[in-house]
Amino acid sequence: MQSLPLLSHYAQQAQAKLPAAIWHYLQSDAGNGYQLNTNEVAWQARKLVPRPLRALQNANTVCEMFGERWAHPLLLAPVAYQKLFHSDGEIGAAIACNAQQGQMMVSSLASQPVEVIIQQAQQPLWFQLYWQGDRDRTLLLLQKVIASGASAIVFTVDAPVKQSLMDLPEGISAVNLVQALAPRPIAAGQSNVFDGWMSQAPTWEDVEWLRKQLTVPLLVKGLMHVDDARRAVDLGCDGIVVSNHGGRVLDNTPTVAAMLPEVVSEVGGQCKILVDSGIRSGQDVFKALAMGADAVCIGRPYVWGLATEGAMGVAKVIRWIRDELEMTMALTGVSNLSDIRQVDLYQS
Ligand code: FNR
Repeated sequence: MQSLPLLSHYAQQAQAKLPAAIWHYLQSDAGNGYQLNTNEVAWQARKLVPRPLRALQNANTVCEMFGERWAHPLLLAPVAYQKLFHSDGEIGAAIACNAQQGQMMVSSLASQPVEVIIQQAQQPLWFQLYWQGDRDRTLLLLQKVIASGASAIVFTVDAPVKQSLMDLPEGISAVNLVQALAPRPIAAGQSNVFDGWMSQAPTWEDVEWLRKQLTVPLLVKGLMHVDDARRAVDLGCDGIVVSNHGGRVLDNTPTVAAMLPEVVSEVGGQCKILVDSGIRSGQDVFKALAMGADAVCIGRPYVWGLATEGAMGVAKVIRWIRDELEMTMALTGVSNLSDIRQVDLYQS
């Protein structure tokens, strides 16, 4: 029988079950745990003022976006190679997402075929795009996933030269991708980063091009700076995900909670604003919404559930965080997501 709160219990179980290298891959960040921890602490630092005695019988957590309607504002963030954590893999996460009436972003680096994931989910899912080195290769991937039923594209732009921290075990790979382009050979005196990897990285011109290729909503994931948020909106993007990739790419970034208010005051209402990085409870979700986010993505926590109990674990994580969100709404006296946005958080 579990005595810890569900997420701590799952984190503990996942660590005990997974090989050390896979646990490390899941938990690691770019700064020896510091980045991950500051992300989490920043949400916790905002405080909630109780507002009792309000009638909340018809309150709800319904979230609507791009013509989709979910029971709650929690999306599953794209996480690569989910068969590393449990044989249910992305299919398990997608089934859980459907059972909990939500939405999931399927990673470019998914370890199961995207058409099977979407078919098993029995609902359209969002697809997270990593740039495939050039426009032709990127378009081929997009055509495939949209034909498979992807209802939105989330273009991750904050990890252009990221390489996997671990060797993948036999039988686990990014099955939806054709073989990656080899890094361009560099001449003597050239930079491996600039002349090698970055020569295949996307630019704002590619975002503009991408927008023109797609008829489904396009979101850009991994923006932190207010000017970048503005530029994405000016290029016609439908949403942004304010994120520092769970602290996994650039060390020493500010937290998402620190950057969100400025982004909201610049582009709030002009595009959908999603956030992730360090969200660990329904209270954190509430705070992100109160600060102006339209929805919230979770990463590591649902993978703890997946590793422990497969699809069932993911479903329980979503339900747990939703229950906490509902309890937070009840205790702060708000009855729906738009009312949460009117709440002033207390900063001691
Ligand atoms: C990620 N993330 C990620 N993001 C993305 O756009 N494409 C990807 O393939 C992956 N893969 C991935 C693997 C693992 C193991 C982790 C932990 C994360 C980042 C992810 O979408 C999200 O931004 C963070 O996980 C959010 O932070 P929390 O909730 O994990 O703190």
